[in-house]
Amino acid sequence: MAGVNVTEAILAARRLTKIVPNGRSTLTILHDIDLQVMPGEVLGIIGASGSGKSTLLALLAGLDHPSAGSVTLDGVDLAGLDEDGRAAVRSRLVGFVFQAFQLIGSLTALENVMLPLELQGRLAMSAIRERAVALLRRVGLAERLQHSPRLLSGGEQQRVALARAFVVEPRILFADEPTGNLDAATGAEVISMLLALNEEHGTTLVIVTHDEAVAARCDRVVRIVAGCLA
Ligand SMILES: Nc1ncnc2c1ncn2[C@@H]1O[C@H](COP(=O)(O)OP(=O)(O)OP(=O)(O)O)[C@@H](O)[C@H]1O
Ligand SMILES: [Mg+2]
Repeated sequence: MAGVNVTEAILAARRLTKIVPNGRSTLTILHDIDLQVMPGEVLGIIGASGSGKSTLLALLAGLDHPSAGSVTLDGVDLAGLDEDGRAAVRSRLVGFVFQAFQLIGSLTALENVMLPLELQGRLAMSAIRERAVALLRRVGLAERLQHSPRLLSGGEQQRVALARAFVVEPRILFADEPTGNLDAATGAEVISMLLALNEEHGTTLVIVTHDEAVAARCDRVVRIVAGCLA
């Protein structure tokens, strides 16, 4: 996307670098990453294991902070915020989907989806419940509202995780190998649902994947090689 107007990007990373201590020296995990993502875009991030994809996603989403460089998310410069400030931005703007689903085992499917809205504290419980039920219906789990995650299949758990991610109407959604724990057919279904929800909700998607079938369905794919954009 040469010539992109950075001011229009919903997500912009500039010279993003992550260096961690490594014994008596240091290890550069990411080096000088420049990246812009436009509203509504579906961006795939691919690269070998250990190349820095999850580290990059964590920095872009404000879960981690860089050693150098900056991230601007929906016009907010994350560098200017402390951990509480970044948490507030994540809660308002960002959704996540993880490889291992990361549902809370002691809560039902419905309670898992309600939780992010409860934490926001902006809607009445009845409205929260209504939105969570509608999303669980949308992902085909109307009959599983009271199920514990451990009684759900992997594909069903990931669909609950999709409902949980979209329930806050995020501006941008980050997914780290969302099909990594699923068989090919189930993974393809989950990606179809993720892309459909992304379009319906007018969200922007950044997906880390090893899965060529997932990469093929992204609008654009970037590759990380040893911490650098290839
Ligand atoms: N906090 C840390 N301290 C030291 N090394 C780290 C830290 N976080 C990540 N690394 C190292 O940085 C490299 C990149 O890790 P990262 O998890 O981003 O890779 P990845 O591309 O997501 O790999 P995978 O495809 O296996 O998930 C790895 O070599 C990892 O061991
Ligand atoms: Mg990873």
